[in-house]
Amino acid sequence: MTLPRHIAVIMDGNGRWARERNLPRIEGHRRGSETVDEIVMACRDLGVGFLTLYAFSLENWNRPKDEVAALMALLKEFLIFKREKMIKNQIRLVSIGDVERLPKDVLQTLRDTEQMTESQDKMVLNLALSYGGRDEIVRAINAVLKEKGNGLLKDNFISIKEFSKYLDTSGMPDPDLLIRTSGERRVSNFLLWQSAYTEYYFTETLWPDFSRNHLLQAIREFQGRERRFGMTSEQLHVV
Ligand code: FPP
Repeated sequence: MTLPRHIAVIMDGNGRWARERNLPRIEGHRRGSETVDEIVMACRDLGVGFLTLYAFSLENWNRPKDEVAALMALLKEFLIFKREKMIKNQIRLVSIGDVERLPKDVLQTLRDTEQMTESQDKMVLNLALSYGGRDEIVRAINAVLKEKGNGLLKDNFISIKEFSKYLDTSGMPDPDLLIRTSGERRVSNFLLWQSAYTEYYFTETLWPDFSRNHLLQAIREFQGRERRFGMTSEQLHVV
């Protein structure tokens, strides 16, 4: 059975998890960050090569100021407290998104963690921070145009493969499986370019309740699907 090489997750439902318990929303995020630890380790143990987590979208900047501040504090805490564990488990931390918008101290902590884990090679943990799919594509187009201005682009032409190199995910394989928790069935501006052939898995489970077993269930369902990439079933089964 093939294991997804790259799993992406839209971690949704922290707020509802807290509301159901009459707790402040941030408690849901706190529990959610414990789930992050559990799922990172589960993927690491299984041998998944890349795990991308939608930790903070561009749209999330519009949330109430105190919630944004609390999320930034949780992120910083996670990066600082989990560094040792990442290194011990040979996990490399990277990020995608317009991270320059992050508060200075959080950005510095992110850059430090990226640098401290850069030689780890068992799994890549990719955090999408201040991330939007359309924004990523437009930033890539602008980077291409800048190069064109420098005369580096030949014949006014760029291929899909070349263009991919300008995206934040340059060098990473596309996600095979995208999980969204909490019953919402939307893509919400996540990995728009990269998910062209990704299998989606939606579950009612809220992110703070999502466990290793839920992950295994998602992977099992993925393994039962036939990925045809536009071809016919017969073409795929030629021996
Ligand atoms: C969506 O739930 C979740 C987020 C906007 C943030 C995700 C953040 C974490 C899981 C914790 C911090 C991350 C790391 C990497 C340590 P929601 O608030 O939209 O939930 P709701 O739809 O039920 O209100």
